[in-house]
Amino acid sequence: MLDDRVCGVKSVHIEVEELSEEQKKPLVTDPAKLGFGKVFTDRMFTARYEVGRGWFDHRIERYHDFPLDPAACVLHYAQEIFEGLKAYASEDGRILLFRPELNARRMNRSARRMAMPEFPEEDFLTAIRELVVREKRWIPRAPETSLYIRPTMIATEAFLGVHAGASYLFYIILSPSGPYFQEGFKPVRLYVEDVYVRAVPGGVGDVKTGGNYAASILAGAEAQKKGFSQVLWLDAKERKYVEEVGAMNIFFVFGQKLVTPALSGSILAGHTRLSILEMAGDLGYETEERPISIDEVVAGAADGTLTEAFGAGTAAVISPVSGFRYKGRDYQVGPGEVGPVARDLYRRLTDLQWGRVPDPYGWVREIGRL
Ligand SMILES: Cc1ncc(COP(=O)(O)O)c(C=O)c1O
Repeated sequence: MLDDRVCGVKSVHIEVEELSEEQKKPLVTDPAKLGFGKVFTDRMFTARYEVGRGWFDHRIERYHDFPLDPAACVLHYAQEIFEGLKAYASEDGRILLFRPELNARRMNRSARRMAMPEFPEEDFLTAIRELVVREKRWIPRAPETSLYIRPTMIATEAFLGVHAGASYLFYIILSPSGPYFQEGFKPVRLYVEDVYVRAVPGGVGDVKTGGNYAASILAGAEAQKKGFSQVLWLDAKERKYVEEVGAMNIFFVFGQKLVTPALSGSILAGHTRLSILEMAGDLGYETEERPISIDEVVAGAADGTLTEAFGAGTAAVISPVSGFRYKGRDYQVGPGEVGPVARDLYRRLTDLQWGRVPDPYGWVREIGRL
């Protein structure tokens, strides 16, 4: 049975291009060759928008380049938003999505903040389902592999005035991805960034728009040069409160409490974060969403009351933290290994996502069969 919350109503007509065997790309299935975001499937979804006309021309067609006017708004003023989610192949042959309605909703929250048109949530879900099911041969089957789904919207109008574009392209591309942890579930060391910031109060840190990521690249590269995997971002005003880790939300374990920064406006409201907060009670953990100062994290690492820290996001699910450097000093978190909370949450979330256990939360959507 297909899940009618995702695919009951076929809300929009989609013109579908069928491909001959010769037109299809050679399938890449070796998880080691897949990596992340490098391989793309045969087809993509596209739809166009014009002010006064709305969305039109919904298509599933061969993966292709776009003709884009050099004056297109997106190329100059970065009027762009995107989402990220995954399709999972369960062992018994189901194609599963994890809480895709949240992505549909967040896409439109991003659209409103970036003065872009909303894409109807029902059409967003229908487009994903229709594309993923047609491209299902690309869903990798090896453990911990998945098909990454990247819905994107760009402003295409050719005009150099700084304003909201009058025309847009919405598209969805699919990328089969290998396991995030190629060499097993390993903890990472963080560099606490106290010079550069990722996002500012009143800015766009809480929406998925390309500029946030562009602003983070230099700090990430410099941290890597120093031997750290990720940047731990502090708030822009005081460089005092912890915000996010790389492109993930951050959690700390203090005693029986799972603590994460409150959504301040410059933090992306992650769906993995939300799911962890919603399921933490089942693990016997209290949760707290509040400002967390870096001084509190340093003190907790030094006196052992901070037992674990980990990042949370769709790509890695859970990324455990072994330690961090702040103002030239190195700190270890707990024993510097993967802790029991990170391990438990990783197993519980991935068991749900890959359909290995019954879903008591109603989060998993079956959209078809392999
Ligand atoms: C900046 C940022 N923070 C947090 C997250 C985690 O969000 P989610 O759990 O919805 O993937 C993401 C996306 O993966 C992100 O780009």
